[in-house]
Amino acid sequence: MNIAVIGCGYVGLVSGTCLAALGHQVTGVDVNTQRVAALQAGKVPIYEPGLSEMILQQTAARRLTFTTDLPAAVREAQVIFVAVGTPPSPNGGYDLSMLFGAVEKIIQSAQSSKTIVIKSTVPPGTGEKVAQLAAQSNHRLEVVNNPEFLREGTAIRDFMNPDRIVFGASTADGLAVLREIYQPLIDRGFNILSMGRASAELSKFGANAMLAMRISFINELSRLASAVGADIESVRMGIGSDPRIGPAFLKAGIGYGGSCFPKDVAALLHQMESLKIEPHLLAGVEKANQQQRQHFVGRVLEAVAGIKQPEIALWGLAFKPDTDDIRESPAVDIARLLATAGCKVRAFDPEAMDNTQRVLGSTISYTTDIISATTGADAVVVATDWPIFITQNWHTIKQVMRGTHIFDGRNCLASGKVGAAGLHYHAVGRPPISPGGGREGTVGVVVAG
Ligand code: UDX
Repeated sequence: MNIAVIGCGYVGLVSGTCLAALGHQVTGVDVNTQRVAALQAGKVPIYEPGLSEMILQQTAARRLTFTTDLPAAVREAQVIFVAVGTPPSPNGGYDLSMLFGAVEKIIQSAQSSKTIVIKSTVPPGTGEKVAQLAAQSNHRLEVVNNPEFLREGTAIRDFMNPDRIVFGASTADGLAVLREIYQPLIDRGFNILSMGRASAELSKFGANAMLAMRISFINELSRLASAVGADIESVRMGIGSDPRIGPAFLKAGIGYGGSCFPKDVAALLHQMESLKIEPHLLAGVEKANQQQRQHFVGRVLEAVAGIKQPEIALWGLAFKPDTDDIRESPAVDIARLLATAGCKVRAFDPEAMDNTQRVLGSTISYTTDIISATTGADAVVVATDWPIFITQNWHTIKQVMRGTHIFDGRNCLASGKVGAAGLHYHAVGRPPISPGGGREGTVGVVVAG
């Protein structure tokens, strides 16, 4: 099929490239001329494992091209994916101006019948509004919804091996087009769920809100675990071994971030309130998320109290490993809070340094490696669970530090190794380990007895 993908941001680039890999003829469209020029020259503006290689493969095979010429791409295409940004609006909802702007341009450019696939995350009910707008065209413009469940860092694998593909359509024709697009994945046996447009839209929001709720739940429980001397990592196993619950997204830490969870929870809250539905549970999810990082920073400051301008090595800035994305990253907030409290923060992240520098400027300093960040530090704060942090030699870290406090904001370090190197280990919802305490080789969970 000939497909235009409007929006060469994260979702548009990954989806467009994967659709080309499924055999479709794909044109990526973006208003940003620099971005399009870079993509045409084979340069990928975002960091996502495997994406650059795949874009090069698909462009070499001439199945993937990029342009700023939206009308031409729309005229050529049978199907137009809309994957433009839907940023949060100041009132807590979604700013859909780019989405409706793109749809208006599609209507103006279309010279024959087409299918518009909404790929951007949109609040339930948006597809219906887009369909009303599209009905003004002289040509039949079918509007369907196909929400994206991919996670940053594993986006290509998630697209090519989905646990489910959700089709939201109001007609059999709309569904048939979606089936044709995804036929290669249907043939491989992946799970297709067909439903109405609003249900598809709400499935996406509901999934993200549920995951965010699990994280806030375990984080709230981690506070109680600390208070009663329990270990939240053991509790997580105790809870997650129940097949009705499962262990995923029950990892305690400094909370969730990223471009999806905070925005989607806020938007769902906003929508429920505007419909006079009281969001008892959701109202607490974001509040607990914010409090978690503030509480964590409070503990760090307590450990370095009494030191004049404490030096903190901040390991990690991205909202999670394998991405350079710092949107709503708890790590960036922690950097800000520590700097405001008078600490000298030296940060290192394998991918997210440039993005952070653009946001935080000179309020913190930036280093080229873990050791430079850590030399002379009173405390190390691990804020992103990059594997490179987990595999550190703690004896070396101890030697270069001035102090002895290691704060594990992701419960990802081998606590026993940290203690055995003569350091204080502080995690989230886990009993602290004093220098020499713990057991060498204890990785993450459970010290018996
Ligand atoms: C999420 C959804 O997983 C994905 O399906 C949707 O399409 C977009 O939103 P993403 O934002 O890429 O994907 O990140 P994800 O891997 O889900 O992590 C979100 C945040 O939760 C991260 O900050 C992560 O560190 C945190 N997290 C995750 C926890 O704190 N504990 C956990 O147990 C899991």
